[in-house]
Amino acid sequence: MYAQPTHPASDDVDSEIAAADALARQVETMLANGSLDGTAAQFAQPRGADLLRRTAAVEAWHDARSNDGLWQYARSLEGAPYPIASIRDEAGTAARGINFASQDYLSLASHPQVADAAARALREAGPHSAGSAVLLGNTRYSLALEQAIAGLVATEHVALFPTGWGAAFGAITALVQAQDHIVIDQFAHASLRQGANAATSNISINRHLDVAHVRQLLGAIRARDTEHGIMVVTEGLFSMDSDTPDLAALQALCHEYGATLLVDVAHDLGAMGPGGGGCIASQGMLGKIDLVMGAFSKSFGSNGGFVATASRSVKRHLQLFAGPHMFSNALSPVQAATIGECIQIIRSEEGDTLRADLMRNVEGLRSLLAAEGLTCMGIASPIVPVLIGGEKASRLVGKLLFEQSVFVNQVEFPGVPIGASRLRLQLMSNHNMQQIKRAAPVIGQTVARARAALAAAEARRRDHGANTAD
Ligand SMILES: Cc1ncc(COP(=O)(O)O)c(C=O)c1O
Repeated sequence: MYAQPTHPASDDVDSEIAAADALARQVETMLANGSLDGTAAQFAQPRGADLLRRTAAVEAWHDARSNDGLWQYARSLEGAPYPIASIRDEAGTAARGINFASQDYLSLASHPQVADAAARALREAGPHSAGSAVLLGNTRYSLALEQAIAGLVATEHVALFPTGWGAAFGAITALVQAQDHIVIDQFAHASLRQGANAATSNISINRHLDVAHVRQLLGAIRARDTEHGIMVVTEGLFSMDSDTPDLAALQALCHEYGATLLVDVAHDLGAMGPGGGGCIASQGMLGKIDLVMGAFSKSFGSNGGFVATASRSVKRHLQLFAGPHMFSNALSPVQAATIGECIQIIRSEEGDTLRADLMRNVEGLRSLLAAEGLTCMGIASPIVPVLIGGEKASRLVGKLLFEQSVFVNQVEFPGVPIGASRLRLQLMSNHNMQQIKRAAPVIGQTVARARAALAAAEARRRDHGANTAD
């Protein structure tokens, strides 16, 4: 019998071509099913008299995506948010792999000292705050936490909130009245934008990080209105772009135009900057920002949020008029003790070590992804956004990475503008270089495979359309 001589390299090439072809065919089916099409924007404002039935369209869109494994939301963890984690997608498919999709930048959620503090508080005070912060919801843990936050951001008065979202929304809606003005960065977090929209219709949106544009907007407002207040809203580290504004310049502009600066430090406080003081500390602005607002959910092992101010009367006003402070139950003793313990670690030498480990991982991942030809947006921070662009390619990459046990958040509208989809990778101190070296080429190759498959499938559909038209 004649045996066909084979060369291993040509076998490899053949199987690569076959795999690429199979993927392109799969994508062609997805395109035919419509599961790569559309954005959530189409379903945001449904019309019709029946409030409940008119949600059916978004469910049909979800089903088409989900049937093709392209629904990236509502996945769940089986255990703790470790760098290696077991997760399930919404359809119940399980996978274990490298986790860049959790927010626990300093890995404090699994720190034994933090677990002990939480357990102690649970034993001593129970699991429940049993009231809002103004109606006996405060505990000795939450009072100690106010002091600890005040120390961390070098600002005297602190109001706590049950979530970071509530802190953002509550601060803006309490302090800004309908006649006042807001100047807000175009990429500010939804909690800030929704707070702004609820507070006033006098909203000016500044181009991302563009201080000159903020000056122009403030000048225009003050030229017609010297009577009312202006709040300028930005973030210390932008959550989808990993970049930071010039805080000194913005604060100076606010002084010049009689405006108030609010900086949301949800992503940088604790994880970045000297002593964990975030971008405010890196920029030498500790204690100099009008309002510092933050979330505990990224680096402090717990839900929760805060607003810090130099003014006692501002705190008093927030207590009475920030809805999520006044009318929502306070942080539980366990949450407050957890966050307090995290702050102790963050401000210690161990905190410096954890931040150094985190930055080693960040820089390692960014340089390996760049070597793969990928664009990492922004500055080195725990957030590594990899720009993909179109939703179709981004969804496909998200699905393929999940199948290869590399977990990232695939972000599209409403998280980011349409056409600016991206992978958002979030790093932790406890990741190691072995995991990062293993994941980076998988991500690089997957982006290339997805783009090629999409181009091939679209070309085939065009050819097919042209043939049938003939
Ligand atoms: C910039 C920013 N602000 C506020 C929040 C809200 O914080 P939390 O999720 O802790 O309520 C988030 C969380 O996603 C955020 O990214």
